[in-house]
Parts: sequence; structure tokens; C-alpha cells
Amino acid sequence: MQDKVPTGLDRKETEVYRRLDRGRLPKHIAIIMDGNGRWAKRRHLPRVAGHRAGVSAVRSTVETAARIGIPALTLYAFSEENWKKRPQSEVGFLMGLLSRYLKAEVPTLNKNNIRLEYIGRQHELPADVQQRMDWARKATARNSGMVLTLALNYSARSELVDAFRSIVDAAAQNGGLDHLHIDEDTVGRHLYTRHLPDPDLVVRTSGEMRLSNFLLWQLAYAEIYVTPTLWPDFRGVHLLEGIAEYQKRERRYGGLNHSDAHPETSALATKS
Ligand code: FPP
Repeated sequence: MQDKVPTGLDRKETEVYRRLDRGRLPKHIAIIMDGNGRWAKRRHLPRVAGHRAGVSAVRSTVETAARIGIPALTLYAFSEENWKKRPQSEVGFLMGLLSRYLKAEVPTLNKNNIRLEYIGRQHELPADVQQRMDWARKATARNSGMVLTLALNYSARSELVDAFRSIVDAAAQNGGLDHLHIDEDTVGRHLYTRHLPDPDLVVRTSGEMRLSNFLLWQLAYAEIYVTPTLWPDFRGVHLLEGIAEYQKRERRYGGLNHSDAHPETSALATKS
């Protein structure tokens, strides 16, 4: 009997998907989308052409992730540093691109049962962009499938600062600092990502080996997959290849692997 493959996967995606262990798909994948500028430069195009081409990569990746049943996907679209350090013209272009993406994509998100969320300091974005973001979030709020979180004007250090402030504010309204008890769950509940499990897998495109201030708390035990593919060339099949690589890794969370922890039973297992 043929394995059941989700509808909508193309031939190459189907090939990689068949090799995956369906029972061990990551529950949350985070992606650092990088290489738009280099993609454009190689083609002697302005940087913004790379960002425009990056939208097709977003579309393909989001649809494939939803089709194979990934519960959560988070895309690092725009860092706080991008916002502050890039020319105003590029920032303005990215804002326009985001607005147009949201308007055009809501029907597809709804068709794929995807709920949209955001992380980052949204209140610092232009008012019209905030309105569009709000509209798209509400328009997809009833969907029960994959949660697509866009990191916009996001910085992990700012997120931690905001979380600590929020913990202290909550304590002040709840009997004061004397009774304040902080543990890892407390911090997690005050992060922007409180609606999500920690990512199991983080993908970075364009070959750079950095986390670039992305989800520093949440990625503590994530598997890292770096591909040389530049973001505008990235498609659903590359995501599936990343998942295949993830499934080859052994996650130990600081513990031992099975054969080191149980040498006797492992020896028996290899003999039988
Ligand atoms: C990094 O490439 C990419 C960005 C700063 C922007 C990402 C935006 C998109 C993929 C398109 C819009 C997104 C959505 C969600 C609609 P870079 O410019 O740093 O590339 P470089 O390192 O090669 O210069």
C-alpha cells in the first residue's frame, strides 16, 4: 500500500516527505530568512528585488509546513536592528511589502487553516502597518491549524527586557515584590512567544552560522540547520530537507544518549 502523502505536495516534496518519520515531525520550526541582498546582488538587481523575491519563498514554505501538519512556524521577517540600521528607503519598502503580503495572503491562510500571530515591538511600527497586521490577525483568528508567527521589529534581548518588566509590573499589581517568585515557567509566560512551544528546529538560510538575536531563550535546546540556499531560492522542499536532517539528530537535552545510559540493554539489542 502506498504511504499517504498530504495533498498539494509537488513531486520533489513528495520524494523527501516519504523519507520522513511522520511521528517525529518538529512541533515548532523557526526560520531566519537570510540572503535576500546577496540574491539580488548576484543578479545585479537592487536589494529590494531580493526582498520581493523572498515573498515567493515565504508563500511556498508556509503552505508546505501547513500541508504536512507542522503545528507552529515562526519567521524572522524583520529584526529591531534591521529597522534601526538599514536605509529608510529599504525599511519603507519592507513595510509596504509586508502590508501587501498580508492583504494578498489572508485568503490562502484561511484556505490552509493557518492562524497568524506576531512577535516583536509592534507598537513602534507605522500606524497603517499596525492596522493591516491587526486586520490580518483577526481575519485568521478562528483558524485551528498551524500558527504562523511573524517576528517583526523583533529582538530577543528586547523580548527578555520586556518580559522582566512585565513580571515586575504583574507583581506590583499582585501584592508587591515581597511575594515574587521567579522560575523558568514564569519567564516563559511573560515572553512574546507564550502562545507557542519552544522551537525544536531552527533553520537559517544563506550559510551564516549565527542566531542574530532571534529567540535566544526559546532556542536553548533547538537543533540548528544551516543551508547555503539564499532565502529567495528557498522552497517547501528545502524545509522538508531540513526536517529530514533534524530527524537524523539525537536530542539529549543535557542527558545521555540511550546506549550510554543503558549499556547492557543496548549491547543486547545490537546482538539480537
Ligand atoms: C534578510 O536578507 C532578509 C530580511 C531583512 C527581510 C526578510 C523579508 C522577506 C523575506 C520578505 C517579506 C516577508 C514577509 C513575511 C512578507 P538580507 O537583506 O539581510 O540579505 P543579505 O544578508 O544577503 O544582505
